[in-house]
Amino acid sequence: MQITPRVFSGMQPTGSLHLGNYLGAMVNWIELQKTHACIYCVVDLHAITVWQDPDELRRSIRQVTAAYIAAGLDPRKNVLFNQSQVSAHAELGWIFNCVARLGWLNRMTQFKEKAGKDREQASVGLYAYPNLMAADILAYRATHVPVGEDQKQHLELARDIAQKFNNDFKGSIVAQGIADGVFFPQPEPVITGPATRVMSLRDGTKKMSKSDPSDLSRINLSDDADTVARKVQKAKTDTEPLPSETAGLEGRPEADNLVGIYAALAHIGKQQVLRDHGGQQFSQFKRSLVEVAVAKLGPIAAESERLMADPAEIDRVLADGAERARAIARPVMEKVKDIVGLIRS
Ligand code: TYM
Repeated sequence: MQITPRVFSGMQPTGSLHLGNYLGAMVNWIELQKTHACIYCVVDLHAITVWQDPDELRRSIRQVTAAYIAAGLDPRKNVLFNQSQVSAHAELGWIFNCVARLGWLNRMTQFKEKAGKDREQASVGLYAYPNLMAADILAYRATHVPVGEDQKQHLELARDIAQKFNNDFKGSIVAQGIADGVFFPQPEPVITGPATRVMSLRDGTKKMSKSDPSDLSRINLSDDADTVARKVQKAKTDTEPLPSETAGLEGRPEADNLVGIYAALAHIGKQQVLRDHGGQQFSQFKRSLVEVAVAKLGPIAAESERLMADPAEIDRVLADGAERARAIARPVMEKVKDIVGLIRS
C-alpha cells in the first residue's frame, strides 16, 4: 500500500461558518482542489462533544455543506461528506484512544479553553477529540491538512499518533508486506496566507470564533451586505491612521487584523494593502474593506441560501461523498485491523 499525496480537512457544523474559517482554511482548500485529491468533511461527531440541539445540528450540517459548495468546492472533484456517515472515523478513533497517551491529551490547550473551569463536567468526547481528529486524517492516510493556526497543536498530536502506531506495530506492519514499516504517513499541516489567525472584530487579541457571545465579533458567511458593512464599521480600531509599512502594525492588533483580512480577501500581501491605503484614517479604509468583503462574501451567502432551499439535494451530495469516502477508508481499515491483530470477516 503506497502512500500517495492526499488532502483532508474538516469544519464543525456548529452554526454558520465565519470569516476566520473561510480565510484561515477554506481559501486554501479551494486552491488545493486544483492540484490534489481532496477530502473535505463536515465533522459532526466532533460537534457533539458539546451539547447540540438535534434539529439545529441537522440544519448546521446542511448549512456547512452548502457553504462548502457555495465557496467553490466542487462536490464531483472532491469528496464532500459528513463524518458520521463513515464508520471508519469512530473505529479508528477508538484504536487511537488506545495509542495516544493521557499525558499527550493533558497538554492540549484547546481542551483547557473549551472545558473552562469546571473540567469535571466536560464530556469524555471533548477530551478525546484530538484522537478522533487524527483518525479523520489517517483513515485516508492523508498527507496534507490545510487548517488555521489554532489547529497546529492537534496536528502535532496526529503526527505523534501516526508515529507511535508505526513504532508499536512495526513488526506486524512489516509482516503485512509493508517492507519499510511505515503504515501511516506524517500528515503535514498547511497553514499559509495572510489570515491564518483571524481575530475578533471587537478585540484584536482574541480569535474570531463561533462561540463568542457577541455576533459583532465575527462576520458570518451567511451575513448580508448591510450586516457585513455594519460589523466592519463597528470594528474596534485605534486612533492612529494606517501605517505605510507592515512594521508599523506591531503592537496594533486591531489594525493588523483588518489589514490581514483585507489582504486575504483581495489575494494580495499586507505590504501591498499598506502601499495602497497607508496614511488613511480607519473610516476610509473600512469603506474599502466593506467593498472587498461584500464582493467576495455576497455571492457565497446568496448561493448558500439557494442550495439550502433544497435540503434533499444536499443530502444526496453527502450520501454520494460518504460512499466515495468509505471506498477509500475501507482498505486502510482492513489493514489496520490486520496490523493490530483484530479478526475480521
Ligand atoms: P473548526 O470547526 O473550529 O474550524 C474550521 C477551520 O477554520 C479554522 N479557523 C480559523 N482560522 C483562522 N482564524 C480563525 N479565527 C479561525 N477559526 C477557525 C480552523 O483552524 C479550522 O481549520 N478540529 C477542527 C475540525 C477538524 C479537523 C479534522 C480539521 C476535525 N477533524 C481533521 C482538519 C483535519 C475544528 O474544530 O475546526
